[in-house]
Formats: sequence, structure tokens, C-alpha cells
Amino acid sequence: MKITLRDGKSFKCDENQTIYEAAKCNNITLEHSCLNARCRSCVVQVIEGKVKDRVEDFVISSEEKSKNITLSCNAIPISDIVLDVQDLVNIPFYEKKIIPAKIDLLSKINNEIIEIRLRLPPSSNFNYTSGQYVNIFKGKIKRSYSVANSFDGSGKLQFFIKKYEGGLMSDYWFNNAKINDLLRIEGPLGTFFLRESTKENIIFLGTGTGIAPIKAILENLKTNNDKIVKKNFWIFNGARYSDDFFWKPDNIGLENIKYIPVTSRERNNNVDEYGYVQDAVLRKGINLAKSQVYACGSSEMIFAAREKLTSNGLEADHFFADAFIQSN
Ligand SMILES: Cc1cc2nc3c(=O)[nH]c(=O)nc-3n(C[C@H](O)[C@H](O)[C@H](O)COP(=O)(O)OP(=O)(O)OC[C@H]3O[C@@H](n4cnc5c(N)ncnc54)[C@H](O)[C@@H]3O)c2cc1C
Ligand code: FES
Repeated sequence: MKITLRDGKSFKCDENQTIYEAAKCNNITLEHSCLNARCRSCVVQVIEGKVKDRVEDFVISSEEKSKNITLSCNAIPISDIVLDVQDLVNIPFYEKKIIPAKIDLLSKINNEIIEIRLRLPPSSNFNYTSGQYVNIFKGKIKRSYSVANSFDGSGKLQFFIKKYEGGLMSDYWFNNAKINDLLRIEGPLGTFFLRESTKENIIFLGTGTGIAPIKAILENLKTNNDKIVKKNFWIFNGARYSDDFFWKPDNIGLENIKYIPVTSRERNNNVDEYGYVQDAVLRKGINLAKSQVYACGSSEMIFAAREKLTSNGLEADHFFADAFIQSN
């Protein structure tokens, strides 16, 4: 079977290979995150030809299916196909590795969030693009966490981790983890990072610990002198209560940056907006046709934000997201 992309690139796909797998074998990288038909990061439209699903998915609606929208990590071509998607060129992809890591810092921010810093062996040469995530292994438990700092060559990775009641890894982080505990990480993973574009507004939506990869992306921009720093940056940080906010973009050093905390369960005079982050974006009157949106946090927020913002002028392929779905 032959797969052709919007940019004209084409490649062969073996029987029973997904679109994503075939692309990868041909050194083409398509948008993705979980690779498990659960997060929607890899949504594509099939313009010509037919595919079948490897497993039943619960994230593509029947209306979308009727428009031949599918998941590249789950769709297997059954004829030659043409896709409305293109290769993620110009983005450095670092080799995925599994390496040991020791806990360097454990700091409870509040009852629900803990900051963790991992120290990697100096010989590991671990690199990543700001916004990506890694899998952390504690014995047989494996969970995904977004790296919250940009790469600085120090071999230290920062994470903001939320406590889930009854969560196996939550129990470890909040009750048992100790400095110098030995873990393993696998990564870097995912394609949640800033894209080059001519859009003038960059809008970040981060709810809860979903602010972590956004912080990493912003820190990386600080060291970036090119024209991207001239854009307008908006950060909509969502939390239930005002006491839940744990980070602000202080010292980021970008000229045009607006930080807007949004609480969903408490009206508070010290907080700019009340309600959902996507509604707060609309109330600010930002021209969405001239914007790119990067959303990270719960899948409910991401689905609702995509729906609302694309029906108010945002181009669908300028919405990028990393859903913090359950990773076990
Ligand atoms: C790409 C990616 C990046 C992520 N980055 C981060 C991050 O930076 N910080 C962070 O705190 N978490 C992040 N997560 C979520 C994280 O991987 C775990 O799912 C979460 O920490 C729970 O793990 P646990 O072992 O404590 O709970 P589990 O033992 O897995 O589950 C315990 C209970 O909590 C519920 N639960 C578990 N995970 C979730 C979830 N994500 N949403 C809703 N309910 C859930 C389960 O249904 C279950 O009832 C990310 C997930 C993904 C896929
Ligand atoms: S649904 Fe395909 S990468 Fe998550």
C-alpha cells in the first residue's frame, strides 16, 4: 500500500502496519503522543482511499468517522491512501533511550502537587525538545510525565506531579519517594512542542500540572533570539481554586506575554477569569484566525477547547495538544 501526505511525500506501508508505524519506518514523523488510540494527538483525515482500525477507539466521534477522520496510530490502510497531514520537518527529534535516574529533589508544593527533580548520569547525553514527556519507571510501574524545564545540559529534569487518590505512582511520590532513589526514564516522547508559523498569537492553555510542558517551552524561548519572540504570547492557566496555582511566568523575558489565571470553582478578585480556559480565550477577543493554540491538561479540557476554538475561527491544524490521560 502507498501513503501520500499533503506535502507530496509518499511511502510504502506493509500489511497490518499503522500509518504512524509506516511513516516512522520511512523517517517521517507524524504528530503523536500515547500511540494507543486514546489521546487524539494523531488525528488525521483520509482524503482518498480506505483504512481499518487496529483496535476499537473511543475518541473519534461517529460524525468524524463519517468524514474519514481517523487516528494515525490506529489506522491500517487497506488501499493506497492520501492524507491531509504532513511530516513534522525542521523539528529536532532526539533518539529515545532508557536510562537510570536518581531523585535529586522532592518538594511538596501543596497537598496535591509535588515537584520532583531527577538527576541523569553525566554519560547519558539525554536531550529533548521543550514540551516533550518521558515515561518514569519505578520497578514495574510506568507512568508518563511532561518535563517542566527546558534542556540546559545540566542533566536534571524537573516535573510537577499531581496526586491521584488511590494512584500507585502517586502513593510512591507522596509517601515513599526519597532523595537518591533509583528510577529509570524512557524518552523523549511525544510531539508537543512549538511549531514555526506565521501566526501572530501563540495561546497556551494549561490546566493543573498541564502547565509543566508550557513552562519548558517558554523557558526555551527565553534563549531564542529569532522572530518568534516578537509574537504575542497568552498563557491561560486553569485551576479549580486560586490556591491551586503554583507557577507564574516570572523572569521569562518575553516582551509580549500575558498570563491569565482562570479558576473554575471559585470567583476571586485576585484572579483574572472565572470558568473554563477556552471561554476565557474567547472573552479576550483574540483573533483566532491569526493564532496557534497549545493545550495541555485533562482530555476533557482539550476536547472542549478544540471544539470551541475551532468553531470560533481557529484553523484545526493550528491546535496542538497533549492530553494527560491515565498512562497505565
Ligand atoms: C503524555 C502524558 C503526560 C503526562 N504528564 C503528567 C505530568 O506532567 N504531571 C502529572 O501529574 N501527570 C501527568 N500525566 C498523568 C500521569 O502519567 C499518571 O496517569 C497520573 O500521575 C496517575 O498515575 P498514578 O499511578 O498515580 O495513578 P493510577 O494508579 O494510574 O490510577 C489511580 C486512579 O486515578 C485515576 N487516574 C489516573 N490517571 C489519571 C488521569 N491522568 N486523569 C484522570 N484520572 C486518572 C485512575 O482512573 C484511577 O482511579 C501524564 C500523562 C500522559 C499520558
Ligand atoms: S491517539 Fe494516537 S497518539 Fe494518542
